[in-house]
Amino acid sequence: MRHILRVLPALALLFAFLSVGRSAPGDDDYRPIGGPQAMRTAAELSAKGARDWIAQKDLASLAQSGPELQLLGQLLGAQGSNADWKKGTANLDDLARKMATAARARNLPGATEALKGYEDQLAALAKLDASEAKSVPNHKTTGGVKTWMLALDFAYNEAKFAKTPEKIAVLSRVLAEEANAMQDLKTDGKWRTISREVRDHALAAVTAAEGGKIDEAKGSLQKAYQRCEFCHTGKNK
Ligand code: HEC
Repeated sequence: MRHILRVLPALALLFAFLSVGRSAPGDDDYRPIGGPQAMRTAAELSAKGARDWIAQKDLASLAQSGPELQLLGQLLGAQGSNADWKKGTANLDDLARKMATAARARNLPGATEALKGYEDQLAALAKLDASEAKSVPNHKTTGGVKTWMLALDFAYNEAKFAKTPEKIAVLSRVLAEEANAMQDLKTDGKWRTISREVRDHALAAVTAAEGGKIDEAKGSLQKAYQRCEFCHTGKNK
């Protein structure tokens, strides 16, 4: 115990140092912040949504789930660095593509098989050590704006209506990572700034929820949403 007390101040100093390093001005590296667990949860929720389209035989909606499953696979990949992790998450990308292609060809069994592969790959990744996430210099985010927006909208709404602090924390973390990665879709300074504001309010929601403060977390989510609206309308509410 005494030993722990002695290293605590040193740890606090180290964290202070690390967080200063993180916000260095002019530093545009992409730094993943979601973590493997939260981003896997997001991919699992999205796969569950795709399952529902399969149950309803709604192939058009299923085809649209493809890009979102790809996006979440990409974000999950960024949360780790070892070769097995990268290989497994690249496979998610592949399977999401296959699912969408099969859905567009109105091939329900083919799409179902690809989705099953995606789910199995996610389950396998749950057992894998991701190793530390690495920041990426000159990072370019891929995917259409619409796909990103649907992902943000889903995470925001799930977080907003979640009842337990644990769920709010995980979903706010997903929202924060999505806003974080979305910065690099464009080089436009305003786009990047507003994306970061959404990210920072979402991170405040994570901290509040992890401290069991549900009302404070929902307040931060509300602030994040005001930044979404600002980007959409150019107006502050
Ligand atoms: C940096 C700017 C920016 C931010 C921040 C932003 N959006 Fe958007 N959003 C856009 C743009 C641009 C479009 C139009 C995209 C299109 O339709 O191609 C859009 C469209 C949308 C749509 C409509 C998608 C559709 O069906 O076509 C939704 C829903 C949405 N955003 C939700 C959100 C939510 C929720 C947040 C915050 C958590 C958010 N957005 C943050 C720029 C932004």
